[in-house]
Amino acid sequence: MMMDIKVLILLFILSFSGNAFGQINVEKEFEFAAQQYQGMLDSHPDLTQFPQSTNPDGSPGNRTSDWWCSGFFGGSLWYIYEFTKDPKWKDAADLWTMAVEKEQNNTGTHDLGFMLYCPFGNGYRLTRNEIYKQTLLTGAKSLATRFNPKVGLIKSWDMFLDKYRYPVIIDNMMNLEFLFWAAKESGNKEFYNICVNHADNTLKNHFRADNSSYHVICYGPSGEVIAKKTRQGAADESAWARGQAWGLYGYTVMYRETKDIKYLTQAHKIASFILNNPNLPADKVPYWDFSKPGEERDASAAAIAASALLELCQYSPKEQKRYYISMATKMLESLSSSAYKAKLGENNHFILMHSTGHKPAKSEVNVPLVYADYYYLEALLRYRKLEHISMSY
Ligand code: GLY
Repeated sequence: MMMDIKVLILLFILSFSGNAFGQINVEKEFEFAAQQYQGMLDSHPDLTQFPQSTNPDGSPGNRTSDWWCSGFFGGSLWYIYEFTKDPKWKDAADLWTMAVEKEQNNTGTHDLGFMLYCPFGNGYRLTRNEIYKQTLLTGAKSLATRFNPKVGLIKSWDMFLDKYRYPVIIDNMMNLEFLFWAAKESGNKEFYNICVNHADNTLKNHFRADNSSYHVICYGPSGEVIAKKTRQGAADESAWARGQAWGLYGYTVMYRETKDIKYLTQAHKIASFILNNPNLPADKVPYWDFSKPGEERDASAAAIAASALLELCQYSPKEQKRYYISMATKMLESLSSSAYKAKLGENNHFILMHSTGHKPAKSEVNVPLVYADYYYLEALLRYRKLEHISMSY
């Protein structure tokens, strides 16, 4: 009986101490990630075949270095190295990072932020390897060639131009962190100015009154908006789940790098759209599009949003901070459960199941995706850092 009273008192105290953290064992999750990715390394001896997903027949779906996702595997290996400090992960990360090196000269894609900054950026942060820095600086110059000052935005695609003219997708916000880094390292203010111009025009044209975003804005030669469309979402007027997560992450980075309050306000608005959406399931892992409740989930959207919220919470007042941490924790708890996390040796060695890449094209539906794993590991690291700073808010 005495024992019961002690437990009750402890529970009472805990409920008032307001610990926003849930039950995620980061050490255990990284232990699993390391074992699972050892299997991925063993099954990928060819450094030109990058893990991407699972093919419809169940076989591993690999891609070459020019695919927008080529940097995520190397980036995840750096996160495993960051956690474990085991040099074998550093060696593996270096191999898969350098495998993307030639993309530094690729001026045909806006995705260099993903392709280069995830592997080389993390690699440089952790090792200060000069080769990584030079690769990044060349890559930033390549990316900057896609900024047209008359339009005021970085062009996303060189394809489908008859349909989209000068297309800019919300995902493009994810390149800006790379250009901010390049501005600081090179002293070239032009990179910084591109970020601000791109983010301001995206703020002006990409968002609806409810703070959800369009996927594609089609611009004319002087920056005039010609059309607002989708490619990967359910409809032009719907809210594609991953797009909302890219926007949340992108505007959180914009605030971090500029301290301009309008970007922070936008990040809060996007967070509110996602977290208060009546179609967000109880486990906080979104359906692939917010207009399609009951259809496939997109675990990648949850992983990206969780990582973004664990940064945004740091720029937020106490109550909001607690709320963001608890929502991100719920997302990570769900992703770490058997509902989304694969069994060891299964799922073609990816960590997470149930992401959706491009449903309208019937491509990558309800499958593992390499970037879901990347942002999940990033979010776990951010969670651990916050947990260490303070267990209680
Ligand atoms: N950037 C492409 C995607 O999010 O699917």
